[in-house]
Amino acid sequence: MATKASKRLIVFDTTLRDGEQSPGASMNLTEKLEVARALELLGVDVLEAGFPITSQDDFEAVRAISREVARPTVCGLARCVAKDIDRAAEAVAAAKRPRIHVFLATSKIHREYKLHKARGEILRLAVEGVRHAKAAVDDVQFSPEDAARTEPEFLAQVVEAVIDAGATTVNIPDTVGWATPEGFRALIEHLFENVPNIDKAVIAVHCHNDLGMAVANTLAAVQAGARQVEVTVNGLGERAGNAALEEVVMALGTRSDVFGGLATGIRTELLYPTSRLVSRVTGLVVARNKAIVGENAFAHESGIHADGVLKKRSTYEIMDPRSIGLAKSRLVLGKHSGRHQFRQRLKEMGFRLPGKEIDALFFGPFKELADRKKEVFDEDIAALVESEVAHAPETWRLLRLTVATATGGMATATVELENLLTKDRKRDAATGDGPVDAIFHALSRLTGVKLKLDDYQIRSVTSGAEAQGEARLEARHGDKSVSGRGVSTDILEASAKAYLGAINRIVSSRLATKKRKRH
Ligand code: KIV
Ligand code: ZN
Repeated sequence: MATKASKRLIVFDTTLRDGEQSPGASMNLTEKLEVARALELLGVDVLEAGFPITSQDDFEAVRAISREVARPTVCGLARCVAKDIDRAAEAVAAAKRPRIHVFLATSKIHREYKLHKARGEILRLAVEGVRHAKAAVDDVQFSPEDAARTEPEFLAQVVEAVIDAGATTVNIPDTVGWATPEGFRALIEHLFENVPNIDKAVIAVHCHNDLGMAVANTLAAVQAGARQVEVTVNGLGERAGNAALEEVVMALGTRSDVFGGLATGIRTELLYPTSRLVSRVTGLVVARNKAIVGENAFAHESGIHADGVLKKRSTYEIMDPRSIGLAKSRLVLGKHSGRHQFRQRLKEMGFRLPGKEIDALFFGPFKELADRKKEVFDEDIAALVESEVAHAPETWRLLRLTVATATGGMATATVELENLLTKDRKRDAATGDGPVDAIFHALSRLTGVKLKLDDYQIRSVTSGAEAQGEARLEARHGDKSVSGRGVSTDILEASAKAYLGAINRIVSSRLATKKRKRH
């Protein structure tokens, strides 16, 4: 067991549960499985796959992931309620190492206003929840929700009681991102000093980022003896998100002088490709200046900095970009590059694709792009992989797009689509306030799916006039939020692909629901 003296930290990833709770980040089953496989490869110890009672989709995702991944513990979340716990138990039953994670709020504000329960009742429900879960699996985690705002002496009482009831991990969440590093460290120290049976469980922490201190709070708790960190890729999660996996792991490694040589099982060279994968499937863009995996994290603009790095890298770079899976060279391939070079480059960038997919990429989109662009950069290759490989099942494919605009007037878009299920081709034209508006109207008319746009962004993948443009959007259809992403050297085509990608998600979720109802 990872007790306070242990030098090995357990990495508990909750990208597929708390991360998926980020507005606009929902993933379908295929995407969740893809992320789960990547997380297993990355080396996470525990994978929180979902909250099975919340929906049939969540239940099925946890069950499928339990069957699919071999090495990590697979965890399902449940409230301290029998029906939640039974559903979570059923979902993780097939896992090699199943865990049930039960939670109950303990802070005064949650007790009084949300739960309407006194301390004694909370203690009783927590213990009952752990016992109920323990009847199904050996590995039970308990979280006193909003622990950071719970009275420390009551928190110690709850922790002691749930350990006595059989909890093997007790997680201390800062649910609302309230804590500061000093205060959170003191709280964890308080528990180590005041919970007599604390050495019988692993102490975990789960920090939210509302004040931008999630990573700092997590690391402070580790210094106080916590040995499980709950994190998400790219820091996804409720509201401002959770502590970012890549930041916690790289801080521990880079500043091992401060963190006493604590180690994780994470293969850091897969951090960048995993971050890109999660960004692609969720549609949530990683900020350029995001630590570790942001586009600017290893870029040097100032002449003084660039000169320093060329003379000695560590003058301005505290980590080697290769240690997170970023290739050092920026310029890579062109139209004369061969398949072998392309395959090698993908491998160096951390993309592990089957030979058939590499060939399809090389002879199709890569060749096309290399004809349009003189130089193909790493970022172009990453964008190609992300837009072409394993996206949501495609029903509608864009065949042709023509746009006419007039200064001060309306724009007209003519679009031709193929329905890949029926093989029908359809063509229609629509007008709009501008070319993008016209394209979106035409796509909605052809597919019968109308989306309400929440966010739409265009950015250049690389620099220069012939750079590829990436369009990303978030939209709603009824109560469903979807995202879409498209890449092309033509930004109107990229926008059409992004909108169509979002439509395809709606169509594929409708088809999945229909299929489920038939069975
Ligand atoms: O933030 C939180 O408190 C949670 C719990 C379920 C651990 O996500
Ligand atoms: Zn949380």
